Amino acid sequence: MKRALTPGTFDPITSGHLDIITRAAQLFDEVIVSVAASAGKNPLFALGERTALAREVTAHLPNVRVEPFSGMLVDFARQMDAQVVIKGLRAITDFEYEFQMAALNEQLDRGIETMFIMSPPQYMYLSSSVVREIASLHGDVDLFVPPVVADALRRRFGAAEQS
Ligand code: PNS
Repeated sequence: MKRALTPGTFDPITSGHLDIITRAAQLFDEVIVSVAASAGKNPLFALGERTALAREVTAHLPNVRVEPFSGMLVDFARQMDAQVVIKGLRAITDFEYEFQMAALNEQLDRGIETMFIMSPPQYMYLSSSVVREIASLHGDVDLFVPPVVADALRRRFGAAEQS
């Protein structure tokens, strides 16, 4: 069985993430959306909330499951018996960071292959951080995240003040 991980902080999961996960699910027998604790990034949503949102938005994909993890990605991949790590690649700015992680993970465990899936044009400049910023300013995030995530962001930041 070919099993792939799609790791990330998913703070929160966006439509861009969902696009990559859906395409990975067409290529592998099983995909594990691996939600990193990423405590150093001081996430807006707790690990349990990020995991629950990722589960809700991928519930329709039968060969996808969502698991939280803390610690090293290569250790988690071994624990899950996954051979491949899938990352989405957006604009050129992603390359340096993603290549660094792929190279380090390859050094740490030669048995794990990192593969990249290009983001489609409409999600090229989408990131969880811009979604959080738009939501914090009470902007409309409906174009960028699935409806349950938009609701969670609205609850987190409250309704826009009337002036
Ligand atoms: O969505 P993100 O925050 O860009 O995802 C980054 C993530 C979670 C994939 C990366 O930080 C990671 O793999 N974290 C686990 C800890 C680890 O293995 N660090 C060493 C990577 S070389």
